[in-house]
Amino acid sequence: MAAKMLLLALLAMVSSVAMASDPSPLQDFCVADKDSEVLVNGFVCKDPKVVKAEDFFSTGLDKAGDTGKKVGSNVTAVNVNKLAGLNTLGISMVRIDYAPRGLNAPHTHPRATEILTVIEGQLFVGFVTSNTDNGNRLFTKMLKKGDVFVFPQGLIHFQFNPGYTNTVAIGALSSQNPGTITIADAVFGSKPPISDEVLAKAFQVDKKTVDWLQAQF
Ligand SMILES: *[C@@H]1O[C@H](CO)[C@@H](O)[C@H](O)[C@H]1NC(C)=O
Repeated sequence: MAAKMLLLALLAMVSSVAMASDPSPLQDFCVADKDSEVLVNGFVCKDPKVVKAEDFFSTGLDKAGDTGKKVGSNVTAVNVNKLAGLNTLGISMVRIDYAPRGLNAPHTHPRATEILTVIEGQLFVGFVTSNTDNGNRLFTKMLKKGDVFVFPQGLIHFQFNPGYTNTVAIGALSSQNPGTITIADAVFGSKPPISDEVLAKAFQVDKKTVDWLQAQF
């Protein structure tokens, strides 16, 4: 019986490590001290005696990001780098603006699940599952104002504005610093570049096609 309990406890520990997200706080708050040179997982805490309301505050999400460049979308993030009070709280948010036909290109957040709502316009959204049996399934949905969609942690997802008006979405993410890996940029625009032989094999195309894709970044 005791052995069984121990095994269960061990299993619970192992699975909680395997599903790790941001660690939970061990104090009311730990406002990021950006001046500290000590490197820890996250940021060192500011002395609580000098913490002010401003440390939990950020402004400007009423303003649209400039969608003029490249793909026609712009993400304004409020993460721990912008709002020091988010340190250790496991949460952050974004405003995303989309021009008509604007795209938030396929990307993943290595450290967060994202829940998103449309507050203006419309969005075609989707994510792809991992490479399990019957894997790489695509789930998509058309969202209108007020609709909510969730992108599970780590999975490749995108949002596209199929309309002729601007779209605005607000997202919340389950990390103070979710990170973003944009697939096209990471694969074809890395510095230094990934060898075209590797990419030609991976994408089953010739090296010239890879060189052309790499030249776009
Ligand atoms: C997003 O919008 C901001 C504010 O207009 C701008 O400074 C920034 O360059 C834009 N980013 C991209 C990737 O277009």
